[in-house]
Amino acid sequence: MFSVSNLVAAVVGLLVASVPINAQVSPVVTEQGNVANTFSLSDVALTSSRWQENEGRTRTYLKFVDVNRMLYVFRANHKLSTNGAAQNGGWDAPNFPFRSHMQGHLLSGWAQCWATNKDTTCRDRAVAFVVELRKCQHNNGAAGFTAGYLSGFPESDFVNLEAGTLTNSNVPYYAVHKTLQGVLDVWRYTGDSTAKTVALALADWVDSRTSKLSYDRMQSVLNTEYGGMNEVLAQIYLMSGSTKYLNTAKRFDHAAKFTPLLNNQDTLNGNHANTNIPKWIGAAKEYKATGTTSYLTIAKNAWTITVNAHSYAIGANSQAEHFKAPNAIAGYLKEDTAEACNTYNMLKLTRELWQTDPTNTAYFDFYERALINHLLGAQDPSSSHGHITYFTSLNPGGHRGVGPAWGGGTWSTDYNSFWCCQGTNIETHTKYADSVYGFDASTLYINLFTPAVLNWSARGITVTQSTTFPASDTSTITITGGGNFAVSIRIPGWTSGASILVNGAPAGVSANAGSYAKISRTWSSGDKIEVKLPMWFRKIAANDNASLAAIAFGPTVLCGNYGSSTLSANPSLSLNTLKRSSSTSLAFTGTANGANVNLVPFFNGQGFNYAVYWASPSPTKITGSKLCAIPWANVLGRTGQVRSVKIL
Ligand SMILES: *[C@@H]1O[C@H](CO)[C@@H](O)[C@H](O)[C@H]1NC(C)=O
Ligand SMILES: *[C@@H]1O[C@H](CO)[C@@H](O)[C@H](O)[C@H]1NC(C)=O
Repeated sequence: MFSVSNLVAAVVGLLVASVPINAQVSPVVTEQGNVANTFSLSDVALTSSRWQENEGRTRTYLKFVDVNRMLYVFRANHKLSTNGAAQNGGWDAPNFPFRSHMQGHLLSGWAQCWATNKDTTCRDRAVAFVVELRKCQHNNGAAGFTAGYLSGFPESDFVNLEAGTLTNSNVPYYAVHKTLQGVLDVWRYTGDSTAKTVALALADWVDSRTSKLSYDRMQSVLNTEYGGMNEVLAQIYLMSGSTKYLNTAKRFDHAAKFTPLLNNQDTLNGNHANTNIPKWIGAAKEYKATGTTSYLTIAKNAWTITVNAHSYAIGANSQAEHFKAPNAIAGYLKEDTAEACNTYNMLKLTRELWQTDPTNTAYFDFYERALINHLLGAQDPSSSHGHITYFTSLNPGGHRGVGPAWGGGTWSTDYNSFWCCQGTNIETHTKYADSVYGFDASTLYINLFTPAVLNWSARGITVTQSTTFPASDTSTITITGGGNFAVSIRIPGWTSGASILVNGAPAGVSANAGSYAKISRTWSSGDKIEVKLPMWFRKIAANDNASLAAIAFGPTVLCGNYGSSTLSANPSLSLNTLKRSSSTSLAFTGTANGANVNLVPFFNGQGFNYAVYWASPSPTKITGSKLCAIPWANVLGRTGQVRSVKIL
């Protein structure tokens, strides 16, 4: 029987002799166009919070999942013994067309768990898995495959894809993208040289297949979902310095999708969302690899179009996995809205774009909105393995984990789901720490109000953020070690009257909503920054119907708890009955359809039927001394409905 621990011992022994296994590997080529950067996951760790609880549940699964089972489809395909392992079900079953997509997410998850948590079990699993993948590549001759090939399905699917004769519903480059990204993450975060070898061999295989095709033939290959092949190959170029990977990346530029975006045309209607968003991240990465500004224009236009014209109040997009007409929201509040993968990918895109424009708060306003209101609650807090829902229903009486049977019908399971979104959620919940802070040569950016410790080793300082945000409107940032630099704090568009204290005294900087408040000084060890971001009720109307709206408190979208009652329509909520019923937790009451309803954060909306959108929430505008109107433009960077709200 295959033994992970023996293998790990052997591999660890080898690596200790050459490079330290713990060493994160930096890219050989520096990215262009980044005005600021986010920190590496290995520099930041979460502390006690809901985010950390989610991270812990996913980590438990990462340490539980049977490695032999997850190798089954690779070994079977590459004609190696499956060592008596059980077969998986769901999207990793031996007859599922794009089996083997999940394992790349696990590799990324293990690598991220090692980077942020310094969890050696996660690291050792990643490294041991990569050794077995290398054995699969080594057996390609015997299996009848060409050099470097690595997947759970036959290479003939690529032959058919290229010839236009693929008929088994496979999306073969989609799966290869996950594997490539997974081994790249292991290489990057652990320094494992076998991971580098596997990644480059697989990337070489992609180069050799695609270099033989004419431009037109390759463009027709791109009509089949291919994940972020352009992005991962651009990353491999940056990591290795070899331009052949950049040339290979560019072959995955889908002209039919990029041209309208370059011209700022919204042609997303009817497009499969998760097929397209990864291409845009690829455009952002190709901009950073080449400096060619048209790539950045494509990525920025795609982001703006999607955030402003295709997103629900919770920051998610799509219904039945597809984009609809611009601003068409009200007619699509169904069971199968808000596919988790799309939001995971939008956040990756957001992070890339923020780095190019770090004083624009729209990027992290969106990041916060989608992370808190969609992805945080897509994990079931009662599942010790952090199981997730594929869609997040927005229909009246919706219920997470209940929906169309083929995808979101239940919470995911240990071995019988392996949907795309189970894979991306493994990554989401192990990388919350990667976007809390950012930096440039002279500035520390506080982008998210998440309890997390940063080791800013270049300056020899530690930054500790403590908060119960979003239940509390205050966050405290403590600096250990000192020096002369600026701290730039995102003042979200949803607040009003924000204030900042340094060591108890007003910081003396402006803190307007929708800007970064910048405090420049010489910091001493123990200095404390207290940020207060007053929260108000906000009405977030559907783009196409002002009489249909979600209600948020500060950044947090609320939902009505309807228990097991069914709802046939969006309930009508009386806004002036809304009250916060606890000073420490986010608990609210109100009157809807004439009856009392308890409202809670939507991220806590599991296990009951809920309402997120309300019909005719009235009054539409409240005026008076205890009221605050927040321009919608501050919230989404978009003009339109301004919704007032009552301070309680
Ligand atoms: C910060 O990171 C540096 C470099 O990796 C390391 O040497 C140091 O021990 C870390 N400090 C803390 C407080 O973790
Ligand atoms: C807008 O939504 C409200 C509440 O659901 C509904 O009564 C109304 O018919 C909708 N308006 C349009 C134009 O669809």
